[in-house]
Amino acid sequence: MLTPPYTRYDQLYVYNFDKIDIGQVDDPDLIGIWIEDDTAILFFHKEKQELVKKICTRSGAKIIYEANLNYQDWEAGLDITTFSVPPLIVAPLWEEDLLTEKEEEIPIRLDPSVIFGSGFHPTTRLCLQTITDIMGSNPDSIKSMVDLGTGTGLLSLGAAKLGVNQIRSYDNNPFACSVARKNVALNSCEDHITVLETDLRGALPDTHVDLLVANLYKGLLLDFFGNPDFWNAKYYIISGFTPSMEEDLLAALPMDKLKLLERRKSETWRLWLLANSIVK
Ligand SMILES: C[S@@+](CC[C@H](N)C(=O)[O-])C[C@H]1O[C@@H](n2cnc3c(N)ncnc32)[C@H](O)[C@@H]1O
Repeated sequence: MLTPPYTRYDQLYVYNFDKIDIGQVDDPDLIGIWIEDDTAILFFHKEKQELVKKICTRSGAKIIYEANLNYQDWEAGLDITTFSVPPLIVAPLWEEDLLTEKEEEIPIRLDPSVIFGSGFHPTTRLCLQTITDIMGSNPDSIKSMVDLGTGTGLLSLGAAKLGVNQIRSYDNNPFACSVARKNVALNSCEDHITVLETDLRGALPDTHVDLLVANLYKGLLLDFFGNPDFWNAKYYIISGFTPSMEEDLLAALPMDKLKLLERRKSETWRLWLLANSIVK
């Protein structure tokens, strides 16, 4: 995350340790610690060879991978900048002065950090556009939402800013949860969004909500689709899959309960908007 004196991301120095038990890391240049597959990946604004040596000595950890790349490379070659999905306008913190007080625009301030959900991946953009559309046509009937795999929290923020007032946002990555909580605070949405660190594999949360958003991956979506407790929401926005995965996913949908309202696409990515025909 961005903490003073940093106001943007430039170079990223990435160190992947072979274990997570590496002790406390307090360093002014630390961006965050990503835990994955029992390894710890530390992101810094500056080169940290000396600190890395100290961590290895004190914890017995080894470095399995290190890299220095610029932020644009991390973000798939894209420049993370201000964009609009009307009426939402989303600005990374380093461009927040572009957020003006125009009545027709609803601003979102975002620290995208190194977490999925800057708004520049086609699936995030498709989901945000679909949330905006569904809120435009059902403004009073969608008041609660769950966001499965929230990343930076951007989809939850978009929904909250459009009037969804009870949102639970889940992610299994503690770093993503910290970034999402920061973004919730930056946008004064604490009363409407609760970020919960949860591994959704085998721990499906309560889905009795108006809207369920899941921008995830095929394996987890298939697990959800086979679980009757997944199908309690009124509307579903499902994304994170490509055409080659669509057939298997479609076959797993309980179509006796659902209407496939829309299929959307962007580049090689797909999204479905589903309505539950049983829950009113
Ligand atoms: C494709 S990203 C979507 C992020 C954001 N919702 C968006 O649309 O940009 C998927 C997110 O799901 C999270 N995730 C993956 N597997 C998960 C699991 N088993 N439980 C909870 N979250 C998970 C990842 O950490 C990641 O932040």
